Amino acid sequence: MAFSHSPYSKFPVGAAIRDEAGRIHTGANIENIAFPEGLCAEATAIAHMVMAGGHTIEEIAVIAQKKALCPPCGGCRQKISEFATPRTRIYLCDDGGIRQTLTMAELLPAAFETDQLG
Ligand code: THU
Repeated sequence: MAFSHSPYSKFPVGAAIRDEAGRIHTGANIENIAFPEGLCAEATAIAHMVMAGGHTIEEIAVIAQKKALCPPCGGCRQKISEFATPRTRIYLCDDGGIRQTLTMAELLPAAFETDQLG
């Protein structure tokens, strides 16, 4: 969250993923003057994980400076689900630590999945 680039919303968000190898990959929201081009913190963390060779999100923690709990947005739920397993846990956090723990099924019921795309 400390590295957030959010001059437009002034709403810093941070995310941290622990992958299948135990490695931690962090992310922050990175906004753009062309607003839809901005990246969420979860997307940045996923990009770091993938580029470091990680494949699976074992745990992901999300925190926002200005909101008590910050559940991932709809698009991020779909992005997280791509790398999640039934074990994956999503932690909504504040300065004191984990305040709420969710499974992927709770976060994104009826997720878009299909065998038709390979
Ligand atoms: N944001 C995230 O980074 N993650 C979320 O799950 C919710 C929203 C960011 C996007 C934007 O930069 C700012 O928070 C305000 O919506």
